[in-house]
Amino acid sequence: MAIVIIRQDTKIEAWKNALLKANPKLNVYSYLEEHPKEEITMALIWKHPQGSLSAYPNLKCIASAGAGVDYIFDDKSIAENITITRVVDPYLASDMSEHVLAVIFTELKNFNTYKVQQLQVNWNPKAYRRISDVTIGIMGLGELGSLTSSDLVNAGFKVQGWSRSKKEIDGVSTFSGDAGLQHFLKETDFLVCLLPLTPDTYGILNTALFKQLPKGAYVINVARGGHLVDADLLYQLNNNHLSGACLDVFHQEPLPSSHAFWKHPNVFMTPHYASVSDTNSVIPQILENYTNLMEGKDLLHIVNRIKGY
Ligand code: GLV
Repeated sequence: MAIVIIRQDTKIEAWKNALLKANPKLNVYSYLEEHPKEEITMALIWKHPQGSLSAYPNLKCIASAGAGVDYIFDDKSIAENITITRVVDPYLASDMSEHVLAVIFTELKNFNTYKVQQLQVNWNPKAYRRISDVTIGIMGLGELGSLTSSDLVNAGFKVQGWSRSKKEIDGVSTFSGDAGLQHFLKETDFLVCLLPLTPDTYGILNTALFKQLPKGAYVINVARGGHLVDADLLYQLNNNHLSGACLDVFHQEPLPSSHAFWKHPNVFMTPHYASVSDTNSVIPQILENYTNLMEGKDLLHIVNRIKGY
């Protein structure tokens, strides 16, 4: 039995070394080196080349190196009987929560406006807002959304949450389903998308939804580019219904240089780096699952193929 690491960025060696450091006896390969395909039972992947997993006739588990698994479901060549797991990690959740809080405070205190003005040598005070002035709405109350909601409550914000099925989180007003969405949106000043990307949530951030937000609302998408209809966001920014947006994720990454988001004064972009898997923190759960796989035991963090997350 062996593990293959498949990803198209520069992190393969770091993951391989971290796995070997944790267990020097492990049979672990990069997909780019010569390796015995029939020995591979687990693939540790992140945005793999589509079709590349078909090379492994004895593959039993595909372990996503991140929380998201939408890119795995995009690959129609993957056999139904292979178990898919994802990462559930406290740093992944706390890094995301810190990112969202930083964005909200930056916006409340006009820091982006001041940075632009500074470069123009322009001294021009602008009214700031307080925690008590705004309501934050979190879409998606999984691991990341729940922690972010609780951290915002602890910081003193009024927080609402929306999810597919009803959730209870201390201090958070929660809503679910289509009926709940309407009530959730009408009080939301900062909308944070932390939903999993599935056929049901693809394009959910669209004109119909934006129109239900109060005028001047701000949109933060830290989930997946596929949640957002780019043209609808641009329209609502340009007609001043929305005051701004902070985007970490895009339909195509890196975002093509011709895209209107790059130069838009009210769009603040980060390069899909709100929260990334910390190798050292994540390796123990990968190894535990590999051992479980070898011993025929249940795996941790199995993805539900019907729900898509
Ligand atoms: C990052 O986008 C992840 O899904 O872990």
